[in-house]
Amino acid sequence: MTAINSVTDLTLDGDVAVITLNSPPVNALSANVREGLFEGFKAAIADPAARSIVLICEGRTFIAGADITEFGGAMKGPSLQDVQDTMENSPKPVVAAIHGTALGGGLEVALVANYRVGVPSARFGLPEVNLGLLPGAGGTQRLPRVVGPEKALEMMTSGRHAPAKEALAMGLIDELVEEGKLKEGAIAFARKAVAEGRPLVKVRDNNSKVEAARGKPEIFAEFRKANARKFRGFLAPEYNIRCIEAAVNLPFAEGLGVERKLFGELMSGSQSAAQRYSFFAERQAQKIPDVADDTPLIPIKKVGVIGAGTMGGGISMNFANVGIAVVIVEQKQEPLDRGLATIRKNYERTAARGGITAAQVEERMALITGSLSMEDSFADVDLVIEAVFERMDIKKDIFTKLDAICKPGAILATNTSGLNIDEIASVTKRPEAVIGLHFFSPANVMKLLEIVRADHTSKSVIATSMKLAKQIGKVAALVGVCPGFVGNRILGARQREAQKLVLEGAMPWDVDRVLYDFGFPMGPFAMSDLAGLDIGWVKEKSNGATIRDVLCEADRRGQKTGAGYYDYDENRNANPSPFTEKVIHDFIVKSGANPRTIGDEEILERCIYPMINEGMKILEEGKAIRASDIDVVWQNGYGWPVYRGGPMWYGDQIGAAKVLAKMQEFQATMGDEFKPAAALEKLVADGKKFSDL
Ligand code: 3HC
Repeated sequence: MTAINSVTDLTLDGDVAVITLNSPPVNALSANVREGLFEGFKAAIADPAARSIVLICEGRTFIAGADITEFGGAMKGPSLQDVQDTMENSPKPVVAAIHGTALGGGLEVALVANYRVGVPSARFGLPEVNLGLLPGAGGTQRLPRVVGPEKALEMMTSGRHAPAKEALAMGLIDELVEEGKLKEGAIAFARKAVAEGRPLVKVRDNNSKVEAARGKPEIFAEFRKANARKFRGFLAPEYNIRCIEAAVNLPFAEGLGVERKLFGELMSGSQSAAQRYSFFAERQAQKIPDVADDTPLIPIKKVGVIGAGTMGGGISMNFANVGIAVVIVEQKQEPLDRGLATIRKNYERTAARGGITAAQVEERMALITGSLSMEDSFADVDLVIEAVFERMDIKKDIFTKLDAICKPGAILATNTSGLNIDEIASVTKRPEAVIGLHFFSPANVMKLLEIVRADHTSKSVIATSMKLAKQIGKVAALVGVCPGFVGNRILGARQREAQKLVLEGAMPWDVDRVLYDFGFPMGPFAMSDLAGLDIGWVKEKSNGATIRDVLCEADRRGQKTGAGYYDYDENRNANPSPFTEKVIHDFIVKSGANPRTIGDEEILERCIYPMINEGMKILEEGKAIRASDIDVVWQNGYGWPVYRGGPMWYGDQIGAAKVLAKMQEFQATMGDEFKPAAALEKLVADGKKFSDL
C-alpha cells in the first residue's frame, strides 16, 4: 500500500490499482482530496503493474460533492478539472465504485470514469440547485448525455437523489454490486473490462441522447411552463435549464463554457450565498451546546398520539413512514374512524402518484392502530404526543392522566403551538420527561419541527427528540418556552403590522402583493382566507369591533365561503373585493383618521423589520440558541424564501444599523410597538452582524 497523502491510498490488487479515499465525514472534494486523487491517478497510470483503476471511498459515503466550506475562498492545490482530466484521459479503464451518495462534484468525478458500479443502497444526484448553484464540473454536459435531457432537467432542478436501481435503469451506473461487497465487485468489473478489451468509453463523446433532442425547443419551453410556480424567484433552476439547453445545442467544449460562465454568476450571487448559509444553518441547529453528542438516547419503538384530527393524523404518518408503530387515541369512535380513513386516503393518494407502492400503503397502515382508551393503549409507549385543542385546562388534564399511565422513562410531548409547557409539565411528577414537539400543518408534509425545551426537560429527552426529528425527515430547531415560541412569536410581529397597515390605508392585496413579490408563497390576508377567517371567531360574541368580525358576520369566512378579504370565483381565483375595501374605509373614517397612500417599501419594512427585532428579543431572552436557528424555523415552517436566507440573514443584507434606524424612526412616529430590542442596539453599537450571534 502506498499512502498518496493523508486522505488517499493506492494499493495493487493483482493487476488492478485501487485508489481509496478516506476524508470524513463525507469525502467532500477539499484541496487535500483533490490532491490525493490527482497524485493517486497519476501514480496508478504510471504503474506498469496496473492494467485498470478502481476509485472507492471509505466511511459512510462516496464523494458527496465539492467541499462547500471552500466556496467563496481562494482554491488551493490541483483543481477539480485537473483531477477529472487526468481520470478521463487515463489509458487504463477507470471504474468508480459507489456506496452511500455520489452527489454533485462526487457524481461529476464518477462521470469521468469509464464505468460506474454501485451497491443497491447507493444514491445519485446533482443537488447543486439546492445550494443556489449548478453542477460546475461538467455535470450539466455529461448527465444529459447519459440519461437524456428530460431526465436531466428533472434531476438537476430538483436535486433529487436517485436510488441505485433507477440509476442502473437510466444508464448512470453500469452494474449493481452486492451490498457489502463493493470493492470485490468493482475489482472484478475492472478485470472483466480489461479481459474483454472493452473500449475506454467517455461520457463526453456519447452524443446520441442530446442530438435526439436538438431542434426541439418545446422540451424546455414545456418544462419551464410546468414548473414556473415552483421555480418562482429562484435563479438556479433556470440556469440549470440553460446549461442543459447548451448540452443539447452545442458541442461539448462549448457547453462546458456556458456551464462555467453561469456557475460563476451563481456562485458570486446573493441567492447561492443565502442557500449555502441555510445548508449549514440546518446542520448547526442540530448542535445543542449543553447536550453532549454521547447523551444517552431513549429507544423509540412505539409512539402514542392523542387526537385523530388533521394534526394527530399527520403526526402519526411521520412515524409509520419510518417503521415506528403508532397508536392513536380519540374520545369517540366516529372521529377515530374518520381520522384513520383520512390517513389511508393520504397514503393512497401518494401511491397513486407513484410515491410509494400499494404494499407500502398496507405496511404503514398496519403500523397505525386506533383506540378509545389511553389507559389501554399507552402503558408501553416510548413517546406520546398530545395534539388536541389548544386549551390549558384540557392539556393539564391529559398530562395528569399520562403521568399515571405511561411507563417510567417515556417522553411526554405536547404539540402546542404556543402554550406554556412549564405549566403543562407542572401537573406531572416527571417534568424532566415533558417536551414540546411543535409540528406544522400538514404535519406529514411540512419540514419544520420546533422542539421546545421546558425548564426541567432532561438532556436525554432533548437529544432523543432531535435524533427522532432527523429520523422522520424533519428539520429541527430547539427553542425555549415563550408565548408562540420562535415561529409564531415572530409571525405575531408581522401580523400586527399587516393589520395596522390596513387600518392606515393599505389594502390587504397591497400588503399581500409586496410579501408575495418578496418571495413568500402568499401574503397574510390570502393566508387568512385560506385557513378560514373564523378560526377563533365566536359568532355570539362578535360585535363588529374588527375588520375580521365584520367580514365573518357577513359570512365572508374565507375561501370556503367564496369570500373573505378577497372575492373568489368558481376556480378559487382571488380578486380584490369592493366590499372589503368599503369595510376598511368605514373603519378608518370611524377612527377619525384619514387613509393615506402607503408605498411598497414602507409595507415591506413595516412587515419585516419588526420580525427581525422580535428575533433579537428572542435571542436576548435565550429562547433560541443562535440567529441562524431562527432562520431555520422561518424557512422551513413559514415559507420565508429560501434564497433570502431567513429574517436574521436578511437583516445582515440590509445592515443591522439600517434596521435599527428604521425601527427608531417608526417608534418616534408610531409608538413603542417598534421599540428596538436592547440586543439590536448593542449589536449596532458593537459593529457586529446578526450572523455573529
Ligand atoms: N462540503 C462540506 N461539508 C459537507 C458537505 C460538503 N459537500 N456535505 C456534508 N458536509 C458536512 C455537513 O456540514 C456535516 O458537518 P457537521 O457534522 O460538522 O455538521 C457533515 O458533513 C455530515 O452531513 P449531514 O449531517 O448532512 O449528514 P447526512 O448523513 O445526513 O447526509 C449528505 C449526508 C446526503 C451527503 C448531505 O450532507 C448532503 O446532502 N451534503 C451536500 C451534498 C451536496 O450538496 N453536494 C454538492 C456540493 S456543490 C458541488 O459539488 C459543486 C460542484 O458541482 C462543482
